[in-house]
Amino acid sequence: MIDNTITNKAKILVVDDTPASLKLLTDILKGEGYEVRSAISGELALNAATSNPPDLILLDIRMPEMDGFEVCRRLKSTAETMDVPVIFVTAATETDEKVRGFELGAVDYVTKPYQRDELLSRVHAHLELHQLRHHLAEVVDERTAQLKESEKKLKNNLLDSVALLAAVVEMRDPYTAGHQRRVAEIAVAIGNALQLPETQVEGLRLAGLIHDVGKIRVPAEILSKPGLLSEIEFKIIKEHAQNGFDLLKTFDYPWPIAQIVLQHHERLDGSGYPQALKGDQMLLEAKIIAVADVLEAMMSHRPYRASLGIDAALKEIEVGKGRLYAPDVVDVCVKLFREQGFSFSS
Ligand SMILES: [Fe+2]
Repeated sequence: MIDNTITNKAKILVVDDTPASLKLLTDILKGEGYEVRSAISGELALNAATSNPPDLILLDIRMPEMDGFEVCRRLKSTAETMDVPVIFVTAATETDEKVRGFELGAVDYVTKPYQRDELLSRVHAHLELHQLRHHLAEVVDERTAQLKESEKKLKNNLLDSVALLAAVVEMRDPYTAGHQRRVAEIAVAIGNALQLPETQVEGLRLAGLIHDVGKIRVPAEILSKPGLLSEIEFKIIKEHAQNGFDLLKTFDYPWPIAQIVLQHHERLDGSGYPQALKGDQMLLEAKIIAVADVLEAMMSHRPYRASLGIDAALKEIEVGKGRLYAPDVVDVCVKLFREQGFSFSS
């Protein structure tokens, strides 16, 4: 006697064109507590299976009109029935036929005349396997949903912390309030125009939002000084790139945010700071933020001067194209402002 505790409520569809065979199979399975439906042709079998998918199908191969292979092929190409395990029951002992059946997606064969216990063992084993697979798929779905939820929470936390960092810097430096947000907006528009992957653009946005976070270590008097800076003051301001990197390097962001922040004042020809990197040593994101930063700074009012205007700002990056700023970045940026009417969100 087979232990049917796991599978005894299972629904089985039995398909055979010979009434006697159909009855025999049905009786054996019903005797084991299975819920059995029977179909005397391929066509009827397909109707029964799609309208109320069973947990397993026992399928005769040699039938008139539509043979078992065709029934199996159709079952496997129909959404409702493609996962239902099919066991062929046939007089055929030819290897070719068996191979063909497996290729069509059958899970097993029972050869007539079959032994009752062997038949039941196979049925039971495949039902159990099917249920385990089904259960596994449910567990995977559940875990995936949980992971997505916690990923969303983590991302929100990350965005909150970035927004907080940005707000803290701008609180101490009211003249550049909004600068980081606008740089982030330009950088994102450039990233999208360059058709960078969505996740890379997301990193670009976050890096833009906190690229001047290192200014937190610059004395407020220097940041808000109305007038030109002395050499020493300028030197202190320049330290913000390295300071930003030092602050961010321990955070485990999924993007190289700290490196981008470190490099945002580097220039292609090595004239930038703090490492005097050359073009190919710079991250693409840093090249993008460098352009967005210069452009936004020139467009905005400063304590010591009025806005220089968008035309002068675009001219500056065009003049520096290839020498200071990455040519492709400059090209899409100029296009954004001159042809595509880029504007800030507020
Ligand atoms: Fe900066």
